[in-house]
Amino acid sequence: MATLGAIWAQSLDGVIGDGDTMPWHLPEDLRHFKEITMGRPIIMGRRTWEALPVKPLPGRANHVLSSREPGRWSDGAYVSTDLPDLNTDAWIIGGGQLYEATLDEVDVIERTLIDVHLADAVTTPVFAPRIGDEFSLTDDGEWQTSKSNGLKFKYQRFERK
Ligand SMILES: NC(=O)c1ccc[n+]([C@@H]2O[C@H](COP(=O)([O-])OP(=O)(O)OC[C@H]3O[C@@H](n4cnc5c(N)ncnc54)[C@H](OP(=O)(O)O)[C@@H]3O)[C@@H](O)[C@H]2O)c1
Repeated sequence: MATLGAIWAQSLDGVIGDGDTMPWHLPEDLRHFKEITMGRPIIMGRRTWEALPVKPLPGRANHVLSSREPGRWSDGAYVSTDLPDLNTDAWIIGGGQLYEATLDEVDVIERTLIDVHLADAVTTPVFAPRIGDEFSLTDDGEWQTSKSNGLKFKYQRFERK
């Protein structure tokens, strides 16, 4: 059976973004994201698509959820109003609205926890959904320190019970 995953990075207090951007630069996490999603379809909300520095993200079929008609804005992506039925393992890659709307359908969560508090520090915080009792923490990695900026972070995996 095809597995639907969600992958995100968040601060200790649940912040995943500030307005349209991510409030940290963590190259290790970008590599981790690439390793996990490469070769798989990725599904994102329209705002996350618009904020991608490179689009479509290469090596992966890019699916964008939006009520808008496809057009020049969506060149390189498949646009749909609902989660596409892909029949293969796929990853939800953001943002806040899409994680919240799809969590009930997700089997696996790959979360990067970053050792900072940001809710009061950023202008327009966007939050991760709450991971409830329907998920177990199946992998809780060691804290690591970013070689580029000293941020501490760890990788966690949750699976639906
Ligand atoms: N830390 C991380 O791992 C991570 C990852 C990705 C993004 N982010 C952050 O997340 C923020 C963006 O998230 P966001 O919540 O503002 O926007 P978003 O979820 O990326 O996009 C929202 C848009 O997607 C469409 N949409 C969302 N849910 C839908 C549904 N159930 N059905 C149909 N369409 C749906 C709608 O588009 P229309 O308005 O066109 O209908 C909606 O306006 C940014 O700050 C970004 O940096 C963080």
